[in-house]
Amino acid sequence: MPSLPSERTRLTSATYERAPSHRAVNVGVERGSTVLYARAEDLYNEDIKPGYGIEGLSTQRELMRLMCDLEGATDVFLLPTGLSALTLAITACLKAGDEVVCVNSCYGPIRRFLQSQMARFGVTSRYYEAGASVDEVMALTTDKTALIIVESPGSLTFEIQDIPAIARAAKARGILTLCDNTYGAGVLFKPLEHGIDMSMQALTKYVGGHSDILIGTVAVKDKALAKRLDDTSRAFSFFASADESYLAIRGLRTLHLRLEQSGKSGLELARWLEGHDLVDRVLHPGLESFPGHELFKRDFTAPNGLFSVVLKGGNIAASCAFLNALKLFGLGFSWGGFESLAIHFEPQLMGRAKLGQAYEGSLIRFYIGLEDPTDLKADIEQALEAYRAAIG
Ligand SMILES: Cc1ncc(COP(=O)(O)O)c(C=O)c1O
Repeated sequence: MPSLPSERTRLTSATYERAPSHRAVNVGVERGSTVLYARAEDLYNEDIKPGYGIEGLSTQRELMRLMCDLEGATDVFLLPTGLSALTLAITACLKAGDEVVCVNSCYGPIRRFLQSQMARFGVTSRYYEAGASVDEVMALTTDKTALIIVESPGSLTFEIQDIPAIARAAKARGILTLCDNTYGAGVLFKPLEHGIDMSMQALTKYVGGHSDILIGTVAVKDKALAKRLDDTSRAFSFFASADESYLAIRGLRTLHLRLEQSGKSGLELARWLEGHDLVDRVLHPGLESFPGHELFKRDFTAPNGLFSVVLKGGNIAASCAFLNALKLFGLGFSWGGFESLAIHFEPQLMGRAKLGQAYEGSLIRFYIGLEDPTDLKADIEQALEAYRAAIG
């Protein structure tokens, strides 16, 4: 008996259900607000879905199906951005008086959301250092803690957490868990398989793959939790367009191959940079030298193409001299597209409640895309000479 097709094959194959008139390989873009009913008697029948465009028509439904498959979920919610996927998950499971415990190295805007918006509604948040033990994380919880937010590797600095252990400890205390799994793109790490309740992703990054869409998902495999997310999403009227959903599906077709190549090139460049005389530290969880590498190897199948470096002796002006000298790297936020990108991120660390590690020197994050890594090396090499001149 033939074995089941692999995840890569399932994402690539065009075996989705299609109308007889649909003969193109990929899905179509079905746009619409009004959905027509065959009979007046059905107008208020809530079993007929979708009843209105906000619920998503065939394009969004195919994306939900593929994302359920990728995440091992029963339900996937589509949101207009990755950040709104996080804010949906947070608002769906909290009420006034509740407390949230969140990793210090989280995607920055989530801390802003907790501290500005959720605080207005009486929700308090506490932060743990990304390297904290499970006991230290749980020590921050009280009987009011309703949610723990994890993100591993940490944004910008790549700290690794023991997500399965945190998920187990939280479950034992009846606390929900939310994982920002944008790094893993649903492929490199499977939060729901490791006991996490809600796995969130910005499809904006690797799934979209071309830096031209914004869309997010929350995936769950618990029907009661799905109902809470559904109620909240409807109340806020969250929606992801058919066009963005179509482009996300198109990205899913090649996700495995792009992610693999980007991750391989990233590791090659990270290893090379470790040996450069201007590099103090390379923050890449796939490197044996990186704290947390063993946990990373246990839980992730491979790294993606994102990593940071601490350059010796620099400051923001020197970081800018380095970045301005790059020719093949775009200077811009986000990642997961075909093109390599670089930013300096000193300003983004300011918001962190407390820095677990002090980073002295210029802080540069690279996203390695699909170019030839030999060309990228040569580009970084010459930009490092501009950096050397800048630090005198
Ligand atoms: C880890 C992480 N989560 C979430 C987001 C938010 O995604 P979006 O830009 O689609 O709102 C980002 C974007 O940079 C991110 O890096």
